[in-house]
Amino acid sequence: MATRSQVQPTAARAAGRGILSPLMSKRIGILTGGGDCPGLNGVIRAVVLHARNTYGWEVVGVRNGFEGLYEEEYIDLDAGKVGHLLARGGTMLGSSNRANPFAYPLKLPDGRVEIHDVSARCMANLGRLDLHGLIVVGGDGTMSFGKKFIDKGMTRIVGVPKTIDNDLEATDYTIGFQTAVEVVVEALERLQTTAESHERIMIVEVMGRYAGWIALTSALAGGAHVCLIPEIEYDIDRVVAAFHKRHGRGVSYSIVVVAEGAKPRGGDYAVAEKGDVTKQDRLGGAAEHLAAAITAATDYEVRSTVLGHIQRGGAPCAFDRELSTRFGVKAVDLIAAGQFGHVAALENNHLVAKPIEKAIKKLKLVDPHGELVKTARAVGIEFGA
Ligand code: F6P
Repeated sequence: MATRSQVQPTAARAAGRGILSPLMSKRIGILTGGGDCPGLNGVIRAVVLHARNTYGWEVVGVRNGFEGLYEEEYIDLDAGKVGHLLARGGTMLGSSNRANPFAYPLKLPDGRVEIHDVSARCMANLGRLDLHGLIVVGGDGTMSFGKKFIDKGMTRIVGVPKTIDNDLEATDYTIGFQTAVEVVVEALERLQTTAESHERIMIVEVMGRYAGWIALTSALAGGAHVCLIPEIEYDIDRVVAAFHKRHGRGVSYSIVVVAEGAKPRGGDYAVAEKGDVTKQDRLGGAAEHLAAAITAATDYEVRSTVLGHIQRGGAPCAFDRELSTRFGVKAVDLIAAGQFGHVAALENNHLVAKPIEKAIKKLKLVDPHGELVKTARAVGIEFGA
């Protein structure tokens, strides 16, 4: 992937940027916002290839999410720049999860940081870009900024849902989720052999924020014995009882997947860093808390692993390569059809358009009584409740 320093932004100020190349009829823009994930580059590639080849449109990439819109950092995208991107993780445009145009951290000359609403300047910059449409690729934060711009009058916005958390109501799957699950499953398989050798309880903390999709899907696919998710508060006594039951049957190790957002009954999320007006709380510490509780209650040897950003890095799996291509093409088609204010979405394996509000208002959470949890229980996975 090209790094920030390798991709030099075009200092596209009003003068040059207003003029279209004579061969191109229209110009569209694309930005990637929030935390990165595998598959973002695949969307950029599909958007550029489809927009240029099918519609003859020029494509401008906005650098580092909404930060680039404020700072006017753009890059002209053509087939030569995106042809190799399908299998690459990350985003060649860069991203930022602090670039909220409505509460933007501005560094003052004396080094202090003040929070300002810079949306008016972003709107003016958008006007100068003279875009036929802007594609925002992101999670609920990025989509909610997109919606606010629509409400302010920049109506020509469409979205592509991405996040490893898979917690957007709008779509069955977001880009990045399946790759994260593949990473966790590989880790579970590796931990299983060492857990067995040393007769240990191995805890694996996975991402997903307030949703348990990564934890539950990985626990099912990776053969975990205990799975703790934010949607089901766990009772530590029940978790310990599950170990005793397994170990009483002559098995001497257990694999636990704990979502970073899992909560003990009556307790709260483990927070690694408090958020503020510019960013959410950063979760972390669930595995450590759980390990301490198990150690306090039993003689079992416990080890924990926090997979962290490994889940977000590296090449996208085949599913995410396919989905990113489908979403990128759909987003361009939404612009062509004038279906602004919508996001590309997957519903029962069909590509559809959903109102952007569907990607914002409500998080898609695991149903504690749904089929996935029932299936996991049926094969003996313990949820601690
Ligand atoms: O939303 C994606 C995600 O990876 C979450 O699963 C995780 O809690 C968070 O982002 C981590 O954010 P950061 O990259 O700021 O540490």
